Amino acid sequence: MIQVTELHKKFKTFHALKGITMHVKKGEIYGFIGKNGSGKSTTMNILAGLSHPSSGKCIVGEKDVSKIDHPSELNIGYLPEDPKFYPWMSAFEILDYLVSAKSNRTNKGRINEMLSWVGLEDAAQRHVGGFSRGMKQRLGIATALIHNPEIVILDEPSSALDPEGRSDVLRLITDLKQMGKTVVFSTHILSDVQKVCDKVGIIATGRMITEKPLSELIKENIVPIYDIKLKLPADTELTEKIKELEGITRVENINDMLSATVTDTDKDGVRLMQYFTDQKLAIRSFELRKNNLEDIFIQEVNGK
Ligand SMILES: Nc1ncnc2c1ncn2[C@@H]1O[C@H](COP(=O)(O)OP(=O)(O)OP(=O)(O)O)[C@@H](O)[C@H]1O
Ligand SMILES: [Mg+2]
Repeated sequence: MIQVTELHKKFKTFHALKGITMHVKKGEIYGFIGKNGSGKSTTMNILAGLSHPSSGKCIVGEKDVSKIDHPSELNIGYLPEDPKFYPWMSAFEILDYLVSAKSNRTNKGRINEMLSWVGLEDAAQRHVGGFSRGMKQRLGIATALIHNPEIVILDEPSSALDPEGRSDVLRLITDLKQMGKTVVFSTHILSDVQKVCDKVGIIATGRMITEKPLSELIKENIVPIYDIKLKLPADTELTEKIKELEGITRVENINDMLSATVTDTDKDGVRLMQYFTDQKLAIRSFELRKNNLEDIFIQEVNGK
């Protein structure tokens, strides 16, 4: 449904995208993740036909984005990072304007259905100038979906939302999947990716560093980690010593919590515990966990 090959984008002398390749199948929910400034919005603007690539190929639906005259030819729904609306119009009027512009007639039923789908039914007649950021984001989602597009591109759809709003957005994305839509969304909230995505693309400084089904990414990277809190926080010397122990592949010391990635849960766990006992270091907590998408993301963007 979306095929991006060797996509480059230069802003004057700044090389923002350095050969992005991306594959999104029909009906897939694709999570696009990367640090601030890594190139997510730049890529999504190109997918939406709003910005021209410097080189490379980008097929969205059946269309080559370099060969269209107007973004509307792509027939996609797009939520920009920071949606803007005429402040004097109501939410209903904005959707009505979009519907009428395309079909020359209004469709109250569809507009009300969309407003209720995004949870804005009670604010339908209020001026958008008085909307909170989260309300604007919900309206942005409604405007992206009003024409019932097959492909939906959402740039951080849940960034301005409270926890309830975020879970609403996840529900909307799940609804879209059930309708058979193809969804690409960017986010910093990795637990959201873990909840709804089929596939994940990780971008770092304009390059796609990993792209695979979420289940594969987790299966390949899932490793046991011991989180250890000592009575006296570990210093650099102790952290380095633990790194040298057999079976330990990584050690991090964040907020006085030592996180040791191990190879063999039982043997290495005993070895760690033994080391602290030998050194007469009092342990406050010693817990085993599996790494999550957050850990995997940090490993991938930092080159493992
Ligand atoms: N119009 C522009 N002119 C110059 N540089 C730009 C322009 N748009 C984006 N950039 C640069 O391209 C890089 C990628 O920006 P982009 O907005 O795509 O990042 P992002 O991954 O969406 O980040 P965030 O998570 O903060 O939204 C940044 O270094 C940014 O400064
Ligand atoms: Mg962005």
